[in-house]
Amino acid sequence: MPTAPRASTPRRYLMCPPTYYRVTYSINPWMDPGKPVDLALALAQWEELRDRYRALGHTVEELTPRPDLPDMVFAANGATVVDGRVLGARFAHPERWAEAGVHLQWFRSHGYAQVHEPEHINEGEGDFAVTATWLLAGRGFRSSPLSHPEAQEFFGRPVIGLDLVDPRYYHLDTALCVLDGDEVMYYPGAFSPGSRAVLERLFPDALVASEEDAAALGLNAVSDGRHVLLPQAAVGLFEPLRARGYEPIGMDLGELLKGGGSVKCCTQELRG
Ligand code: ARG
Repeated sequence: MPTAPRASTPRRYLMCPPTYYRVTYSINPWMDPGKPVDLALALAQWEELRDRYRALGHTVEELTPRPDLPDMVFAANGATVVDGRVLGARFAHPERWAEAGVHLQWFRSHGYAQVHEPEHINEGEGDFAVTATWLLAGRGFRSSPLSHPEAQEFFGRPVIGLDLVDPRYYHLDTALCVLDGDEVMYYPGAFSPGSRAVLERLFPDALVASEEDAAALGLNAVSDGRHVLLPQAAVGLFEPLRARGYEPIGMDLGELLKGGGSVKCCTQELRG
């Protein structure tokens, strides 16, 4: 029996245009400063993603980029917002430190009353993923394990700490994507054996991604409950998503991949 199509819910996203995007330093294995970035193409690819969200009925807010912060296009890392409460970021690498303040400033000037400047390093939605029940929290490369209790206390949601072990999947959102409710897709190879066992226990029905699809950053996807926007090269994920009633939408963010990010990295969700 075919699966009934899912229902999407309208979302609000915060994005930052790649006006000053470039790869001049390397803080993850995807970044090679010797490889040129086509800025015009990066902009066109980013605009296509933004316009696609809008065409699907979602709201996209835009953050003003700063010339000295080339990674600002990866807006997912700047904060985590749940129930209108904002947990600011604190970046691991000095190259990105100043981004945290830009995000905090944006929230304060947009009417957010509950804004928490964190004590411990956390890279926003790069390492925090919100399911219906849990806050999944990555650690190992960027976010400090100490940021997990800090987030749990602030959001009042049970945090599940997950250990990332493969440097290509340095952020949780490169290895796991929340599809809807407590349904996720993930790549087991990115996690420690214990964390893999935790994921199997919490999500026995998860869509498990292959190494090839993970390597195309296919897990760096955004779902609105029905449409799943993901890197188009992750071809193996399309059929399994359709079988579950989702509508996969392939995006080409090839120029952003050179910075180590794709769909999800460019998209911060403003919840509640
Ligand atoms: N160049 C950025 C960094 O290494 C990419 C961030 C990607 N963002 C993400 N949410 N995974 O920090």
